[in-house]
This record gives sequence, structure tokens and C-alpha cells, in this order.
Amino acid sequence: MWRSWFKDGYKKVLSKKKTNFPILKGHPVAQEHAEQVVESHGTIKEKIKTLKKEFKIYRWSPDNPNQKPFLQSYYVDLSQCGPMVLDVLQKIKSEDDSSLSYRRSCREGICGSCAMNIDGTNTVACLKPIDANTNAATIITPLPHMYVIKDLVVDMTNFYQQYKSIEPWLKTKKAAPDGREYRQSIGERKRLDGLYECILCACCSTSCPSYWWNPEEFPGPAALLHAYRWISDSRDEFTEERLQAVTEDKTRLYRCRTIKNCTATCPKSLDPANAINKMKTRHLLSQPVEKGEDKQPQTWAQV
Ligand code: SF4
Ligand code: SF4
Ligand code: FES
Repeated sequence: MWRSWFKDGYKKVLSKKKTNFPILKGHPVAQEHAEQVVESHGTIKEKIKTLKKEFKIYRWSPDNPNQKPFLQSYYVDLSQCGPMVLDVLQKIKSEDDSSLSYRRSCREGICGSCAMNIDGTNTVACLKPIDANTNAATIITPLPHMYVIKDLVVDMTNFYQQYKSIEPWLKTKKAAPDGREYRQSIGERKRLDGLYECILCACCSTSCPSYWWNPEEFPGPAALLHAYRWISDSRDEFTEERLQAVTEDKTRLYRCRTIKNCTATCPKSLDPANAINKMKTRHLLSQPVEKGEDKQPQTWAQV
């Protein structure tokens, strides 16, 4: 069999000798190699074309305030790029368009700074694999309902102030028993699992309809998750005060309508909606039973 393959291959070389690369006349093998190079280069070029993917990225710059935001297309060769959407942005910025702005730091889902909306879902770009379907463009826009500073960079001031408002630090009334540390049992520490891992990326809050419509009053799922983190902490001695702070005003905890967009989008697989529900349950159980006839029924609109 290999003989026929050799014969065919040799014939192929001879047949090309006459028509291609006359400068290599008398060197059939060199002619064949030249032919192969041309052929494989064409194939590579063809492949590169199919590996190129379109990324449509939201652009707006305060330097051109009169220009409306628009989606700018970039074509990226996926064979020369890392596997995550953040790799695409890095490649575009370093090789194509240095004016593109976005935040990033750790590139491993720890700092929360590369949060954005990718193909309709809020997530962190460094944990989001590139959709390898080269027939459809990937659309990248800033976190929704946030003020845009430039391109994919949004103003996080309100978000951080809301986080600060829940006083995210240990508050105690007496000194540590040994004068050094407030200790926890393994079980007490375990109660913080699923809460302490939050990286404050804001994907959840900016996917929450209640937050979209009331960004000033409603602290949002991220801040509320952290409120519950401190309420659950066995070392903290301000549990009741913390619970009261998020429930005394009906625009805070009870603005959550349990739509659960927050939980669906969290790139760290946390469950802010569950934390909010637990706080509601805890608050309701701590309330005295009211005489039904004395109390006017409350409608959603009043809450
Ligand atoms: S569950 Fe509550 S906090 Fe989460 S998205 Fe829905 S309304 Fe917002
Ligand atoms: S709960 Fe999840 S989505 Fe929300 S800020 Fe924390 S890590 Fe981000
Ligand atoms: S760069 Fe830090 S979470 Fe993406």
C-alpha cells in the first residue's frame, strides 16, 4: 500500500514540476516543498479566518460627551488568545486599541473589579470562558443601570457607600476573654460559609430590578448579604441592632421581592436572595404577634 502512496506522491511531484516554480526546475522535491508551503499557508490563513471572532464592545468617552454610546466591533484571532473574555480585552487593548477602558486586577475571580455584562449576563470577565461559536458576536457592555465613567468602567461610589452603611466590621461590647482574640468554634465559623466569599463585584446588585428602580434607598443584595454575614457572626454583639438597621425602614430589606436575579448571576455561586430571606424570617419571628383587626393590611405599593 505504501508503494502505491509513494508512486502517487512521486507522480504528483513530477506533474507539478512542469507547471510550478520553474526556478526550481530539476529539483522535484524542492518544488513539492514549495507547493506544500503555499498550500499549507493558504489553509492556515483560511483557518485563522474561521477562528476570528467578533466582539462588540460598548464605547463611550467623556472626552466626546456629545457622541452617543455605540458598540465597536473588534475581530480577535482565538488561536492567539487566552480562553477567557478578559484575555480578549487584554489582547484588544495591547494590540489593537489602547483607548479601550475596563477594570481588572487579579484575573482569577478574587478582586471583583472586572465585572461587566457579557452576552446579557452580569459576570466577571476573568471567569467567563469565550463562547467559541465564531458565527455569533459576543456583546460586552458595562454593568447595567450604573453611571458610566468610560467604556466598561462604571461609577461604584454608591455601591461602596451602601456596603459601608451596613458597618462591615466586628462590633463588640466587651473586650476579648483572653485580651487578644474573639474565638469561634468550628461550627460557628461554618455559619459564615457562603457569605464571607463575596468579592463585592456588584454583579448581583446591578441585576436586581428593585435596585435598578431604587438605587439610593435599597442597599441591594450585595450589601444585604454582608449585613447577614455580620448578623450570623457569633463574635458580633450588635446582632439585634444590625437587624433593626436593615428593617426599620421599609425601603431596605423589604424592597427585595425575591426575584432571585442576584443568586442566578453571582459568579461566586453565592445566594444573596437566601441570605435576605433568612433575615426577613429572623426579623418576622422576633416581632410580637399583632392583633389582626387593629392592623390595616399593607399592600406592596406601601412597602
Ligand atoms: S432576590 Fe431580592 S435582592 Fe435578589 S434580585 Fe430579587 S429583588 Fe433583588
Ligand atoms: S454576592 Fe456574588 S455577585 Fe454579589 S457582589 Fe458578592 S460575589 Fe458579586
Ligand atoms: S480581574 Fe479580579 S475578579 Fe476579574
